[in-house]
Amino acid sequence: MDVPRQRATRQGSVALTQEVDRLKAGVSADVIIELKDVEKVFGGLNSRYVALQGCSLKVKRGEFICLLGPSGCGKSTLLNLIAGFERPTGGEITFDGEPLVGASSKRVMCFQDSMQALLPWTTVAGNISFALSVRHVPRAEWKARIDECLDIVGLSASVGRFPTELSGGMRQRLQIARALAANPEVLLMDEPFGALDAMTRTQMQLELLRVWERTNKTVVFITHDIEEALLLGDRVCIMNKGPRSRIVAEYPVEGPRPRQLLEDRRIAELAGRIRTTFATFETADQGRPGV
Ligand SMILES: Nc1ncnc2c1ncn2[C@@H]1O[C@H](COP(=O)(O)OP(=O)(O)OP(=O)(O)O)[C@@H](O)[C@H]1O
Ligand SMILES: [Mg+2]
Repeated sequence: MDVPRQRATRQGSVALTQEVDRLKAGVSADVIIELKDVEKVFGGLNSRYVALQGCSLKVKRGEFICLLGPSGCGKSTLLNLIAGFERPTGGEITFDGEPLVGASSKRVMCFQDSMQALLPWTTVAGNISFALSVRHVPRAEWKARIDECLDIVGLSASVGRFPTELSGGMRQRLQIARALAANPEVLLMDEPFGALDAMTRTQMQLELLRVWERTNKTVVFITHDIEEALLLGDRVCIMNKGPRSRIVAEYPVEGPRPRQLLEDRRIAELAGRIRTTFATFETADQGRPGV
């Protein structure tokens, strides 16, 4: 057998062994992220705040999942836990069936505030190069990776421009390109289009869907916009108003993309159900203490 075929066979048997191990451990290969009864308490004795409690979620490989909830309910907290930036105070989080400990290049975050997230003193190419250097990608591969990622997000013509010379939508494209350059398995997106005007936002939503379809990444996307969640997600998970927030409802969203929110009756009905769920928070959670 020639060397490439031997290598392919060896890789195949390693993958098979890993899969058998996973099945023996009762872990589905489909599930990439799992939160079991997660709790996050901030502060100390005098100012204790229970942000999350009993929060459970399974994210499937390749899934586009939207987390939706009122402002301050704990969406960013949840995403920071999945990123590994923060540790839960209770419960368990696994990634690929293993306990999730610390940040990893397998999970990359895109933030709402692109100017804070990008390096202002270097160009579009420089921003991506920085991400590649941090991840110890060999320098010989940088140019090809930068070209490929900028092509995916449609930013090739701006390779030499600085972040201050880009529009808000272009800066978000750069954030996505930089995230993709690390070749992560999961994109964690914290209201990435929240600061954009309505038209740019719609355009970015469509572009993100194209990137997702082209790259097969798993996406965990935070929003407090019901329409955005229904346009993008395979599944929409609703968090209740804090304190002690958790996922209280999950809605699979069916239908091909791009979705027509106004014309698709099923989606309009789903939006109505989600609005009703939100309305119950207003009455049910009033006066709940944080401790
Ligand atoms: N480091 C911290 N110390 C103390 N409390 C915190 C900390 N980080 C977040 N919180 C509290 O936890 C709760 C959840 O915050 P989080 O930022 O996760 O909400 P969010 O759902 O992302 O809100 P928004 O939609 O406004 O971005 C808030 O009440 C917040 O004040
Ligand atoms: Mg937030």
